Amino acid sequence: MDLSLLKKYDVAAPRYTSYPPVPFWNGEFTKTQWIQELSCSDEAIDLYIHIPYCQQLCYYCGCHRVISKNRDRGAAYVDTLIKEWQLYQNKTNLKIASLHFGGGTPNFLNLVDWDRLLGTLQASFAEDFIGSVEVDPRTVEFEQLKLLKSFGFSRLSMGIQDFDSDVQKAINREQSFDLVSDVTQIAREMGYTSVNFDLIYGLPLQTAESVLQTIDQVVQLQPDMIAWYSYAHLPERLKNQKILEKYHRASGEEKRNLYNLGREELFKFGYTEIGLDHFALKGSYLARAFDNEKLHRSFMGYTDKKAPITLGLGVSSISASDHFFVQNEKDIKQYTELVEQGELPLIGGHRMSSTDQLVQEHIQSLMCQSKINLSEMKSHPFWKDIQKNLDEFIQDGIILIEDDILMVSPEGRPFLRNLAMVFDEHLRTKNTKVKFSQSI
Ligand SMILES: C[S@@+](CC[C@H](N)C(=O)[O-])C[C@H]1O[C@@H](n2cnc3c(N)ncnc32)[C@H](O)[C@@H]1O
Ligand code: SF4
Repeated sequence: MDLSLLKKYDVAAPRYTSYPPVPFWNGEFTKTQWIQELSCSDEAIDLYIHIPYCQQLCYYCGCHRVISKNRDRGAAYVDTLIKEWQLYQNKTNLKIASLHFGGGTPNFLNLVDWDRLLGTLQASFAEDFIGSVEVDPRTVEFEQLKLLKSFGFSRLSMGIQDFDSDVQKAINREQSFDLVSDVTQIAREMGYTSVNFDLIYGLPLQTAESVLQTIDQVVQLQPDMIAWYSYAHLPERLKNQKILEKYHRASGEEKRNLYNLGREELFKFGYTEIGLDHFALKGSYLARAFDNEKLHRSFMGYTDKKAPITLGLGVSSISASDHFFVQNEKDIKQYTELVEQGELPLIGGHRMSSTDQLVQEHIQSLMCQSKINLSEMKSHPFWKDIQKNLDEFIQDGIILIEDDILMVSPEGRPFLRNLAMVFDEHLRTKNTKVKFSQSI
């Protein structure tokens, strides 16, 4: 790896889980338009439900969460979720192709509340419905996994982050290898067909040795997919991260070396790098989707199928269609008040222009296939600006362009976010005060 390239391209960059990134949304939407958008689609939707509660704070956390030891708060939250779903269903007749529970910690909910919520949604499950859930191995209960399985859930995702005990102490998230191993085994015996682990590189106190050790433990459990996120350290915005400032944390070249070390180790044990910071075990559904160029990426990560509409329920959730993004209220009190008043709790959104749609397609293709067909973009007024910037990536050996197809070289893979920035018309032409995390 050319170290000068790492230095050159280690800049603040959006993660591009949406295009345009949220700070550039134009606010052009109405609740009526959003309902119309949902009513016009006759395909089943992807449903995302956000459960914000966690019992304990992880100091690195950048997610939208509320810390509480009182699990009974989940009951009122589920009441609101059911009302929000009914607000939609009163005006539409949505079918659910897939349902993903994210957080926070979805297993914060008590069994009775799970039962009520899934019991309500079940009537709308499509025939080949896919259910997935994020769980915290420290607190997930056997009975919860069993109940979710009985409602057809088959995919499980666990936050692991790192197995080293010093790192775990520093980040305030202690969970042993044996515990994670037990949960993984129980889930598989119950019939869960896919297990995903989330890991992070660049955390405080991580070293080359500790990262290798973590990866070696991870591969023993053979998760079907591994998300290996670059630690986003933004203490001005995320006050909880300030406590981590006292520790050494790898950045730039040292941080990328941690990633490369782990990546090589994952290759040795049969994993394929399928996209930005994600690996799939050979033979798993995601590895097959990658091989067949059928991979998609959304707010929830990589998937093999994607419905035209993703509807987000719960505080802070984001919904997406071909023409709009909309986001729910981020404050839990205000979110609840709006739903209780019978109003959709939408507070922000974006209407996609035709250029947005084209750039979004290109960024999807970059993140999922590491290539872009440039033929349509070449007749666009922005092409000259884009081309000028791409020339530098060609000179740096990051990409190759042949017959209008842009291909990312194996050495260019760390720079997918930088490449996406070249196509980002909003970033090129507008200012934002929002600070993005470093690309490396
Ligand atoms: C939205 S969180 C929810 C997962 C679940 N609450 C858990 O931690 O078990 C999903 C993942 O985001 C990652 N994450 C959280 N904060 C991060 C940060 N500051 N930088 C990079 N990744 C982060 C973690 O790997 C986490 O498992
Ligand atoms: S469990 Fe997940 S969402 Fe909750 S504090 Fe930890 S990282 Fe954040």
